[in-house]
Amino acid sequence: MSKIVYEKYDGSEVTDDMLAEASKLFNENYGIWGKDAAKTGAFAKPKSRVRLNKDRLRTQCLPDGAAFSYVKVSVEGRLVGNAFACRWVYRGQTVCWVTQLVVHRDFRERGIAATLLNHIRKQDDGIYGIMSSHPAACLAAAKAFGHGLHAAPLDFIRQHAGAVLEASPVGYIKKAKLRGSLFDAEETNGAVSSVYTQFFVDHTEPLEALAWVREGMEWPLGDLLGGHEFLFLLKVRRRGRFRSRSAPGSDPVS
Ligand SMILES: CC(C)(COP(=O)(O)OP(=O)(O)OC[C@H]1O[C@@H](n2cnc3c(N)ncnc32)[C@H](O)[C@@H]1OP(=O)(O)O)[C@@H](O)C(=O)NCCC(=O)NCCS
Repeated sequence: MSKIVYEKYDGSEVTDDMLAEASKLFNENYGIWGKDAAKTGAFAKPKSRVRLNKDRLRTQCLPDGAAFSYVKVSVEGRLVGNAFACRWVYRGQTVCWVTQLVVHRDFRERGIAATLLNHIRKQDDGIYGIMSSHPAACLAAAKAFGHGLHAAPLDFIRQHAGAVLEASPVGYIKKAKLRGSLFDAEETNGAVSSVYTQFFVDHTEPLEALAWVREGMEWPLGDLLGGHEFLFLLKVRRRGRFRSRSAPGSDPVS
């Protein structure tokens, strides 16, 4: 039987060695640039691997002054998956945003992403969110943080997504542009809950996953367009006795 170990770290505990290991996992397993990669930047070459060195990983996933968590999973001592999350406050609620989620190709579709995200959770988190081109990342988030994607709180997303992103200390999240019919009824391109991040990665794999997922469920987030990512967020539902922060009925984010 293999030894599977999940480890969880807070901000300052993340070492350069951990980031170097995370960078290697990302570079080898995240994905490749798409044909329009030049729109992302001159550094992005179609069909070449999307890469992130440890310094950029630190700036992107662990911005100065922000609170963050890192969870990694190893099998027999080898890193096979990880998740970074950043936290900030929006209207008195702690937002926990997944900034990166990667599982090694040989270890996918066995619940590792959902388990990583489960370990990211903290008692005080009030809102969870993710932007991802991969439907499996949204499914994993919806499972770990809520009650599944079939229960996606579209009204909540419509009302709060823009302001939640705007409050983020992470540059690319703050700058992400909301796209889809959820935010603009006149948009008819098939997008429902998306962000335009100018991240022109190859969508072959996520689109295959999306087609497969749509055979089994009503996918609520719409189509995946070039340079876009799905946007999913939800508010934690607490039973009355756990609502210590605000009195019932006075919730500022409902
Ligand atoms: C996205 C990713 C992290 C998912 O990891 P994973 O460990 O395979 O995910 P899980 O096994 O926890 O699966 C989560 C859900 O997605 C589904 N799923 C996973 N891979 C799938 C696929 N290729 N096609 C369709 N559904 C898929 C699972 O069945 C599960 O659904 P369920 O909860 O309804 O059972 C992994 O595919 C990956 O690293 N992709 C490349 C990087 C990336 O795109 N990351 C997201 C950016 S934030």
